[in-house]
Amino acid sequence: MSKPFVETDKKVVIANWKMKPGSLTQAKKIFSATTSFMRSVRGVEVGVAPPFPFIQKLSSMYSGTTLSLGAQDLFWEKTGSYTGEVSASQIKSVGGRFAIVGHSERRALGETSKTVSKKIKTTLKEELVPILCVGETKRDSSGDYLSFLRKEIQASLENISSEELKNIVIAYEPIWAIGKSASFSMDKEELHATVIFIRKVLTSVYDRDSAKEVKILYGGSVEPSNAKDLYNGMVDGFLVGHASLVPKDFEKIVKAAP
Ligand code: PGA
Repeated sequence: MSKPFVETDKKVVIANWKMKPGSLTQAKKIFSATTSFMRSVRGVEVGVAPPFPFIQKLSSMYSGTTLSLGAQDLFWEKTGSYTGEVSASQIKSVGGRFAIVGHSERRALGETSKTVSKKIKTTLKEELVPILCVGETKRDSSGDYLSFLRKEIQASLENISSEELKNIVIAYEPIWAIGKSASFSMDKEELHATVIFIRKVLTSVYDRDSAKEVKILYGGSVEPSNAKDLYNGMVDGFLVGHASLVPKDFEKIVKAAP
């Protein structure tokens, strides 16, 4: 089976359900509404990252090719005495095909770029696609956020080769824009400038061609009302939080692709 997101020119929209919804019954309801609108979607690959306990059931409910299930995090070891942790191979064995790594809400709980790079490595080894999240806490007029972003990208990709980079998706999520509403999201000009900056950082670590090929998504209050416009920021798609739990809204975001 080919890898999701990285082996296609299609746009990519990933649903990050976070620690919601509260039960499997509710999760199934949201998921079936999502898979049913997927029948009329062209040119976009969708990922859904529910909480771990729901992955297996939801993956058994879908047999199409344009939607993949994945995890919101994982541990870097393959197996062992690590109470509470979940490995890449376990995620794969229940139908998961990608994993979000380094989300700012994980970083806020102690995740470091060092552990993020280990998690990326293990994700790649199991042939899952890592969705690496990066993003600054705040913007400042002196541009300190740019050096923060550069360091975060470099450290998260430590020990990752240019060959491996091809199988990674980057989600740029400015922390100040997460979990609010469309009016708080980034504007398209700023987003475009940031996407160019991220590709420059990747060029300096790898090379121009590798940097050009990486898919860069945007996340942070993507809603039906701003999705179309945000594509003008030259992103390859979105990582969507709250709006992904409302199938009607998520459908509009998925269908906003140019
Ligand atoms: P949001 O979350 O869409 O609710 O801002 C995005 C994310 O945290 O991935």
